[in-house]
Amino acid sequence: MDRSEKDRVKIFDTTLRDGEQSPGISLNKQEKLEIAHQLARLGVDIIEAGFPISSPGDFEAVQAIAREVHGPVICGLARAGSQDVDAAWNAVKDSERPRIHTFISTSDIHIQHQLQTTREDVKGQARAAVAQARNYCDDVEFSPMDATRSDLEFTAEVLQIALDEGATTINVPDTVGYSTPEEHAEMWRTLYRLVPGLADVTTSVHCHDDLGLAVANSFAGLLVGCRQVECAINGIGERAGNASLEEIVMLLHVREAAHGLWTGVNTREIARASRLVSRLTGYPVQPNKAIVGRNAFAHESGIHQDGVLKERTTYEIMDATTIGLEANSLVLGKHSGRHALRNALEELGFQVDGASLNTAFKRFKELADKKKKVTALDLEAIVSDEMKQAPAAFELVSFDVEASSSRSPLARVQVRMPDGEVGSGSFTGDGPVDAFFSAINAAVERDARLREFHVSAVTGGRDALGEVNVLLELDGRLSSGVGVSTDILEAAGKAYLRALSNAVPEEERSAEPAPAEAVTAP
Ligand code: KIV
Ligand code: ZN
Repeated sequence: MDRSEKDRVKIFDTTLRDGEQSPGISLNKQEKLEIAHQLARLGVDIIEAGFPISSPGDFEAVQAIAREVHGPVICGLARAGSQDVDAAWNAVKDSERPRIHTFISTSDIHIQHQLQTTREDVKGQARAAVAQARNYCDDVEFSPMDATRSDLEFTAEVLQIALDEGATTINVPDTVGYSTPEEHAEMWRTLYRLVPGLADVTTSVHCHDDLGLAVANSFAGLLVGCRQVECAINGIGERAGNASLEEIVMLLHVREAAHGLWTGVNTREIARASRLVSRLTGYPVQPNKAIVGRNAFAHESGIHQDGVLKERTTYEIMDATTIGLEANSLVLGKHSGRHALRNALEELGFQVDGASLNTAFKRFKELADKKKKVTALDLEAIVSDEMKQAPAAFELVSFDVEASSSRSPLARVQVRMPDGEVGSGSFTGDGPVDAFFSAINAAVERDARLREFHVSAVTGGRDALGEVNVLLELDGRLSSGVGVSTDILEAAGKAYLRALSNAVPEEERSAEPAPAEAVTAP
């Protein structure tokens, strides 16, 4: 198919910024780097790596991504304010292709109630922020927050100011997911009319999914001329989430003949990106999720199965291999050596050397003793699991859970604390998992409440690795964790302790100082 450059849609991935703002998600630097490397393999154009002023941890993660991840533009978010813009620049400046993304609200609701200022002041702040950012960097994005509930004429004035000061991308967010596709298209037509200079820069859509319309609204914006779409893997993000990257990319890919729009994404990396993000964030993917849900390519009804067996296209509009499902036939066994493991991991995109190769090899051998064939999915699961291990404040040392139909289950645990001491706890509960988690609470002397608990198998078969996702609440804060093991109870204990580790304040779990002043996410 003939493709024209003017129809190329840039993929701006915000998994590590807006996505990380989902309740309960807390990624450390290593995990963010791993996701950023996968996003680069996926071929996204821009990675919004974080909100550098929000915490020293976020600053460091953005800086590490800027230094180590090559290919995509690396972007840092900044409110319209001098310290924010400084922090964003300092975090991204070592990238080969840095971008500063600055924003301020243009809706009267936000201006009056949240910013408690005036429209004139908003214009002044937008002007100053874009000018400051442009002083540092040639690539500057500006967003009028809550634009879809703003007076469009006022938004247009602010956008004109951003353009006058040299913004190179204008992103118009549907911050609260309020828009509909017709309205969204109409909003863009009006903005193009009121601000003719928009034709000379990249225009961008950023839609939230509160009404389930994030992808539809984003697509409406693309159809009327936008050429950047902001989205997140698995659709994670503030509240109901952002437009899902895999849905947008596959919509453009599968229906390219109808609209002519295309992206530079390597669709075969989608499934792996989805699994990695789900595992590291602790957010499971719903089974019927478009593109990456486990049922997205499953056929239940006899008629459908019959049709697909005769000819796949009878009931499938895309091939599972296009998104990287079933693409990897890699299999190792218990006689495979360190070299084979390293090659397999490299093929999967993991760079492991020295101590991390030793750990991966030990985990692999333990698994290969229990499981005849170790597949690519197993390797991905154990390597991501090890990544979760490193900076955990609390670590499972040992556990003993007694369960029977004739008496209450009893659990005893030992947990290593952030200061290296080992705490013990024992508890009886309604079931073995309840007893186990209560014993952990006793050992760490915290009163965490379990909110969600999911168990799934990484691959098929009775010897499959089990993966447990936990969401708990501690002192009013939600926190998630994931654990992987052939022993479901061990996986549950790890997941619970990782969620607990994420929930305790940073200064309690590491020697790192807490941010001087807490900054809330946009
Ligand atoms: O939803 C939103 O308005 C945002 C901005 C910071 C772009 O995430
Ligand atoms: Zn957003």
